[in-house]
Amino acid sequence: MKDLLIVANWKSNKTSKDTLNFFEKFALSPDFPTNIKVVICPSYLSVPTASAFVKEKNLNLEIGVQNISPFEVGAYTGEVAAELAREFATYAIIGHSERRKNFGETDQMLADKVSLCLGFGLTPIFCVPNAETAIPEQVKIVAYEPIEAIGTGEPDTPENAEKVGEKIRQNHPGVEKVLYGGSVIADNVDSFVKMPGIDGVLVGGASLTAESFLMLINKC
Ligand code: PGA
Repeated sequence: MKDLLIVANWKSNKTSKDTLNFFEKFALSPDFPTNIKVVICPSYLSVPTASAFVKEKNLNLEIGVQNISPFEVGAYTGEVAAELAREFATYAIIGHSERRKNFGETDQMLADKVSLCLGFGLTPIFCVPNAETAIPEQVKIVAYEPIEAIGTGEPDTPENAEKVGEKIRQNHPGVEKVLYGGSVIADNVDSFVKMPGIDGVLVGGASLTAESFLMLINKC
């Protein structure tokens, strides 16, 4: 069985109390198969809560952040530098289309963020809306997320996701894993992860309750 990476992107949802409730339910589930690695990316304010819970209960889970500052530590009001995120997280989602669109993130800014992640020991999960999007050379994990599939209930077809994944690998030989994201739910996850070139999924809405996210993981 191939290794799978299942990433939860909670976006701007959940108080720290909601986060704790989620993890308390999630922790009751039996261990996942060893080929499955799960990364949960809460909002920044819940990251320390999530990280402490995972450590205390020794859960087989990684914590990620949804973004980092394009700068190092210093006088950048409102930003969280990679060096600070690293205290609680091991992964960082970089270049999500919601950030490209709503926060004006440019290819250069995203390349800087990838360098900062790697410099401070965070593994970037680099999101692209299509195979033509620039991908910084050091990136090893790419999430293909077509914009029209995000949060719409209208996922891409697994066959097209596979094709896009192939193109990404052809154009970027350093890429080791391609994930698919966009309206992934328990009922369709299997159709994506069974494609030979898809190494996992990035999940928004269906990761927000422990029940729906566990159901999805169990269908992989
Ligand atoms: P969705 O979001 O699963 O709610 O479509 C995916 C994402 O934006 O990462």
